[in-house]
Amino acid sequence: MKIIKVDNYNEASAKAFEVFKNQIITQPESILGLATGSTPRKLYEMMIEDHQTNGTSYKQVKTFNLDEYVGLDGADEQSYEYFMNHNLFDHIDIDKQNTHVPSGIGDIAKNIADYNQMLKDNPIDLQLLGIGSNGHIGFNEPGTAKDSVTSLVDLKQSTIDDNARLFFGGDVTKVPTQAISMGIANILAAKKIVLIACGQNKADAIKTLIEGKESSECPASFLQSHPDVTVIIDKEAASALK
Ligand code: GLP
Repeated sequence: MKIIKVDNYNEASAKAFEVFKNQIITQPESILGLATGSTPRKLYEMMIEDHQTNGTSYKQVKTFNLDEYVGLDGADEQSYEYFMNHNLFDHIDIDKQNTHVPSGIGDIAKNIADYNQMLKDNPIDLQLLGIGSNGHIGFNEPGTAKDSVTSLVDLKQSTIDDNARLFFGGDVTKVPTQAISMGIANILAAKKIVLIACGQNKADAIKTLIEGKESSECPASFLQSHPDVTVIIDKEAASALK
């Protein structure tokens, strides 16, 4: 595991941007695994700015997102589909047909089966991850097995509380209690993985990810067995490390 420690969120985003830009320049038809939450926002801003000023093109890029809330459609401002359109896809030259976010409405079992098949057919070259304060990646909460694939998951109360703090206008009752998430096995199948974590509330999860034992209690710790993971952390997220 490669660990890059930086001073702050902007620097962390810039380091991640270097990896993504290099990926797209060297392999224009890359398949990217993308993430939501507050963490990737700055990286996406940098990708948009780079596209607008330097013409970096996403015309041949395909994307697969980690997860989606059950019950929210793409028109809902809190859905991850809306987040991706608004924060990235609407501002670059990607073909929307090539962007994929699991659908949290309609026939959930079929949506999940279709997503797993699409991931099999489209191996991810570079996967972006954030991390939950309880060590979740995607929406793979503590207790998730290493061989899990895309499935319907129940969100822990701590995750619902965390996500209400920054989204859903602070109203925990508005946060869906279930989501569809790529599983750990889908994430580990990516050729290369970049995880960004910033802030004091990520320090314990980062300590377990880097210094703890691999265990489903901290799903991010399963990344230890992947051959090409880069973890980018700011001072606060690194503060519990030895
Ligand atoms: C949600 C997402 C995760 C994300 C996490 C952390 O639970 N499903 O993919 O990593 O939030 O969010 P934030 O980046 O806002 O701290």
